[in-house]
Order: sequence, then C-alpha cells, then structure tokens
Amino acid sequence: MSSNAPATATIRIDDTGRESAVPLLPGTIGPAVADIRKLYGELGIFTYDPGYGGTAACESKITYIDGDAGVLLHRGYPIEQLAEHSTFLEVAYLLLNGELPSAGQMQEFDRGIRLHTMVHEQLRQFYNGFRRDAHPMAVICGVVGALSAFYHDSLDVNNPEHRRISAFRLIAKLPTIASWAFKYSLGQPFMYPRNDLSYAENFLYMMNAVPSEPYQINPVLARAMDRILILHADHEQNASTSTVRLAGSTGANPFACIAAGIASLWGPAHGGANEAVLKMLAEIGTPDAIPGFIARVKDKNSNVRLMGFGHRVYKNYDPRAKIMQRTCHEVLTELGITGDPLLDLAMELERIALHDEYFVGKKLYPNVDFYSGIILKAMGIPTSMFTVLFAVARTVGWVSQWKEMMEDPSQRIGRPRQLYTGHARRDYPMRAAAE
Ligand code: CMC
Repeated sequence: MSSNAPATATIRIDDTGRESAVPLLPGTIGPAVADIRKLYGELGIFTYDPGYGGTAACESKITYIDGDAGVLLHRGYPIEQLAEHSTFLEVAYLLLNGELPSAGQMQEFDRGIRLHTMVHEQLRQFYNGFRRDAHPMAVICGVVGALSAFYHDSLDVNNPEHRRISAFRLIAKLPTIASWAFKYSLGQPFMYPRNDLSYAENFLYMMNAVPSEPYQINPVLARAMDRILILHADHEQNASTSTVRLAGSTGANPFACIAAGIASLWGPAHGGANEAVLKMLAEIGTPDAIPGFIARVKDKNSNVRLMGFGHRVYKNYDPRAKIMQRTCHEVLTELGITGDPLLDLAMELERIALHDEYFVGKKLYPNVDFYSGIILKAMGIPTSMFTVLFAVARTVGWVSQWKEMMEDPSQRIGRPRQLYTGHARRDYPMRAAAE
C-alpha cells in the first residue's frame, strides 16, 4: 500500500469471513469518519445509529465543535472572539460566505439585508387567521412556510441567484415576522421595520415600540441582543439543522425548509429549552427547594430533567453558556436589577449541580439555554418568545447549511435505512363472511 493511501478500517462478518475495507476520511480537525457508502453493496449490511450520535451525515466547512474541550468555532473563529468583537450580521456573512467581509463587502451585505426587511403586505392577513393566544412558534412556522407562496422569483433552488436572494429574504424578514407574532399576541399594531437601525436594534424596536410614543434604543440591551443572536447563529448538525438539510435534500424551496427547521427547533430538548428553564425555575421557586428538585431529577422514574443542562455533543461547559452568564450580569446591572431572585436561584442550582456526582459523572454542564431565558425575561421579552428569538438567530445557520448542501455536487436526497423488527411476510386471514 502506498503511504498516500487513505487509512481504512476493516469490517468483517465473523460467520462468513467476508470483509470490507472502509476508508477513513480525515477532517481538518476532529475525529476521522468511516465512509460506509459501499458497505451495503459489499457486505449487505446497514449501520445502526438511532439518534445519529456517531454518524456524520454530511461534509461541512461551517462550524466545528469539540464537545470534550468545550470549543465552538465558526469558519475557524472561536465563538468567544466573535461574541466579543463581531456583530451578528458580520457572523452571518462569515457563515454564509466562509470568510470575514472587507469593509466594502460588509456594507453591501448590510444594505442587502436592510432592503429586504419588509414582508409582502398581504402576509399581514395571515396573522388574523391565528388565535391571539397561539404560541408564536406556531405562528412563525406558518408564516415562514407561507413565504414560498409570495416570493416565486426566488424559489429555483438550482439557480445561485435565487438561492442568494432567498437567503437575504429569510435573514432580513425573520425579525419582522417574529416581532409581528409577538405584537399580534398583545393585540398591538405591527411596527414596520426601520432600516436606519441595526439588525438587533430594529428587532428590539419592532417588538417593543408602539406608534403612539417615541422609542428609545438602549445600546447595552441592543448589544446584548446582538450577542445573543451571535451565540445562537449556528451549531453544526443539530436536530433543526439536520431537518433543514433533510427537507432541502429533496429540492424543497428554502422557505419550506426553514419552516421545517422552526418546527424541529420548537421541542423542549432543543430550542424550547430556554422557555423550559424559566418554567423550571418558577416551579422550584426558592433555593431551599433545590435539593428536593435535584432528587426528582435523579429519580429514574420521574422523567424530570434539569433543563438547560446537558448536551449531545458538549461533555464540558458549553462555551456559549459562559458568555451568556456574563451577558446576563451586564444586562441586569444595566437595568438596575440587583439580587434578581431568578438569577440567584439559577446560580445556586448550577453550583449544586456542578458538585453533584450524578451530573459530574454524566458530564452534564450548563448549556446555552441555562442563562438566556433570564436575560430575555429581564429585557421584557415574554417566555413564549424565547424560542422564536432562537429561530431568528438560527435562520442564519440554517440558510448557510442549506446553501452549502445545495452547492455540494455529491448532495443526494437524505434517506436513512432501518432495522426492521416487525412481522415477516404473512397472509391476510380469510375470515368466513358475515359470521
Ligand atoms: N437532566 C438530568 N439528566 C440528564 C439531563 C438533564 N438535563 N440530560 C441528560 N441526562 C442524563 C440522561 O438521563 C441519561 O442518563 P442515563 O445514562 O442514566 O440514562 C444521560 O444523562 C445521557 O442523556 P441522553 O438523553 O442520552 O443524552 P442526549 O445526548 O440524548 O440528550 C439533551 C441531550 C440536550 C437532549 C439532554 O441533555 C437534555 O434533555 N437536556 C435538557 C434539555 C436542554 O437543556 N436542551 C437544550 C440543549 S442546548 C440548545 C440546543 O442545542 O437546542
């Protein structure tokens, strides 16, 4: 074998002695992956990996996570540096295009996003079809899906220009769609986007302003919102991103794919966790109730989980959680909230959990959602909007991953196999008629 030949692993079926040499594909960093594409053809077997914990479903250059070390890189840049020095729109450019923009490229990108912030006026009427008490995730899932009924000029997924325009539309319109879902629930007039404001400022404006009074942007809160958006922008092949890729692999239009991503994000094990953390803290109530709650979490029969803790990939502190905790203190200080009982409760819960053998042994650490709900609540954003905010930010990641997939010549329809354990073939029973 030449020294340049790729490393292989051998899979042998003991009974028959038949074997297959599986190439090991190296990544830039991180573990190599075993390329099993020929395995079925050679040995007639599939691989089995429910939850896909050990399966790479695609090749990607966008985001890298080292879960053991607690590292998150976007296009190679550490999340801590992006959260500190970048802006959400610059990170969006980076995720979409692979490199940080020059000043001119950034100006053009920013202008492109601002040009697309309004939605087709007829889309307003969609909101009236929802109950006022509908969960805003239900509303945005419907409205984003409906975009494909309005923007026919950017639906050709094989046309790079259509893909570019639909990416702009999605990133630009999501804050408008999301804040209108909020306004609808309040019974307040929808606020049209203001293109003189930054992405985060405009989002805060559309959620909080009313036509009858001037609205003052608080720069600390706008910066915090921008950072929260950066922290949620992308996270490689998580459930909702994989949903977007799977939907996109069929050639479905990008608006339909992002609506699918929103639906997947909604669950409490994923984006719904930030909402669930606040519900959990409210349920615990006071620090003296923490030991009783922890005991329920540890009880295998209770089905209670410590929300905002644990992650499929991170077996260390989620790096986003550390930045979120710092941002939380900044926001509470800015708002003059000292000794916030929820934050005190969360910090005490974290302290206890980080010293408890159950959580230590299972490598369960706080994730991005543990503190985000406390910040958002302090900023006056209601619990039901937390996951919506996550969706606004993650749209950038979804669109970037969808675009990468569509540009990959090896892209095929996503179609997993299964281990079938149902009945073998059997005949339909011939019962006597009209017994
Ligand atoms: N509280 C208590 N026990 C937990 C928790 C938790 N939050 N998370 C995992 N475990 C236990 C679990 O019971 C299991 O124990 P055992 O091995 O004894 O059966 C073990 O840890 C492994 O758990 P798992 O469910 O197999 O792990 P997973 O990788 O499938 O789940 C997770 C990852 C994020 C769904 C899970 O940790 C969880 O439900 N966390 C709470 C919800 C949450 O905070 N989600 C937000 C994730 S970060 C934002 C995002 O990406 O959307």
